Amino acid sequence: MLNMGGPSTVPETHDFLKNLFSDGDLIPLPFQSLLAPWIARRRTPQIEKQYEEIGGGSPILHYTKLQGERMAALLDELSPATAPHKAYIAFRYARPLTDETAKQMKADGVKRAVAFTQYPQYSCSTTGSSLNELYRRGKTGEVGDGVEWSVIDRWGTHPGFIEAVSQNIERALAKFPEEKRKNVVLLFSAHSLPMSVVNRGDPYILEVSATVSAVMDRLGHSNPYRLVWQSQVGPSAWMGMQTGEALKGLARLGHKEAILVPIAFTSDHIETLYELDLEYAKEAKDHGMDVQRAESLNDSPVFIRAIADLAASHLKDCGSGKSGPTSVQMGLRCPGCNNATCGAQKTWFARGGR
Ligand code: FES
Repeated sequence: MLNMGGPSTVPETHDFLKNLFSDGDLIPLPFQSLLAPWIARRRTPQIEKQYEEIGGGSPILHYTKLQGERMAALLDELSPATAPHKAYIAFRYARPLTDETAKQMKADGVKRAVAFTQYPQYSCSTTGSSLNELYRRGKTGEVGDGVEWSVIDRWGTHPGFIEAVSQNIERALAKFPEEKRKNVVLLFSAHSLPMSVVNRGDPYILEVSATVSAVMDRLGHSNPYRLVWQSQVGPSAWMGMQTGEALKGLARLGHKEAILVPIAFTSDHIETLYELDLEYAKEAKDHGMDVQRAESLNDSPVFIRAIADLAASHLKDCGSGKSGPTSVQMGLRCPGCNNATCGAQKTWFARGGR
């Protein structure tokens, strides 16, 4: 289960930030090995404070473990031919990091593995970075020799995922008085991307939009909605409109009710618990709006069933030869990609990790 991860405790914040700013697939920086520790040191006190305010760390490891254990148990029932199944977590910036997980998989003697991204929509900054790291570890035999690999690289319109998100929106809508419900604006919020990434042809914006469309179809287009973008950092141009600005704009236009819907992550993290709940929702309330947040997927049984179904279909289709080790779409590099690792990684996974 590939994801970015987050510091489980406040003292882990610095290492998390250092790993994040050291990732050239995410943020290519000049003199990265020197600049990354410097930026991490500078940002640590502020981010530590935010993790303190959300209860002393990120819950992402807790929820990913829970989702993985329950998914593996369901998979044993859904796909007995490939049982027993075991979920490993490989985070990109927090423990357990990919190298740690690789050692564990090798010690366990794993021979068949599925790289299952936990980012529903594909971006080269997120899933792509995790796959590049896994490729670097895999090709040197750190995960073990002769491991057969396949990849679940995107699943932003899977019906079970759409259902789980929709049910959480319906629960949030039910908190509004019935006579106001149909006027509630649904603000789908996803992590933004620098325009330099969007403009090299990254598929993320399209895929997040497809998720939002599928959720609105499932909800019968019951409410007005927008897709907005959060967590921009630094002075360069990023995908907009920004979530906080959108809320202020809606308030200015006379809207009184809104629901914030996290749409691109599978559990709570600092961007939901701090940014959406403590910053934006509070600010919107100061502007006279009643803002609720749709819950993150966390321990949703509908969601966990969805990822088990996804993995079962993947194993079946790979096993029968109906599909290859990766999706067709994964084979296509961004037209503006200059990162040689992306090309090598895609070839390696397309050959089943050989
Ligand atoms: Fe998208 Fe390399 S940046 S394939």
